[in-house]
Amino acid sequence: MNAAPVASAPGDPRLLGRDVRRIAFDADRIRARVGELGRTITEAYPDGDLLVLGLLKGSFVFLADLVREIRRPLHVDFLVAASYGDAMISSGNVRMVYDPETELEGKHILLVEDIVDSGRTLNTLVGLLKQRAPRSLEICTLLHKRIAGALAHPVRFVGFDAPHEFLVGYGLDHAENFRHLPYVASLKQVPTD
Ligand code: IMP
Ligand code: MG
Repeated sequence: MNAAPVASAPGDPRLLGRDVRRIAFDADRIRARVGELGRTITEAYPDGDLLVLGLLKGSFVFLADLVREIRRPLHVDFLVAASYGDAMISSGNVRMVYDPETELEGKHILLVEDIVDSGRTLNTLVGLLKQRAPRSLEICTLLHKRIAGALAHPVRFVGFDAPHEFLVGYGLDHAENFRHLPYVASLKQVPTD
């Protein structure tokens, strides 16, 4: 794949005056990969009820694009999980702040994440979701930093291996900013708050 064009990012009015260090994945590349993931996921579920379960907030852009590339019946629901403490370093204390109303028992659940970093969020959620007796549970993440230790559950569908930088855009935030960037980028000023 060609190097992402950085030229469009400086001066992007969405950036709060901050500069992009580089665009890690531009909109075209994301679109192409999400299309591939949609086809793979369509083929992976020949039968049964499919519930695409988005982990808010970070997955909202990715999920919206992904479900439009899945060519089979499905339902969509969301849950919110948040780590306590510092926004940059996810602590192990993951709390689920919303339980999906949808019945999970007997369904194929596809949990959609924005990024897997330490893996702690997923490890906790997988344990909680398995208690609901789904027919199957798979994880789809846009980005995977590949630094997580032992994951309680394999991540079956991965968009991209992510660089070990703090990334924003396409749903990913820093302090709730930058979610609406149509690309994934790292920032020049590494946020420390
Ligand atoms: P984990 O529990 O360490 O795997 O962290 C996963 C969560 O931390 C993600 O769902 C994101 O909300 C957040 N996160 C981890 N790395 C980044 C990043 O580079 N940019 C933005 N958010 C991140
Ligand atoms: Mg976040």
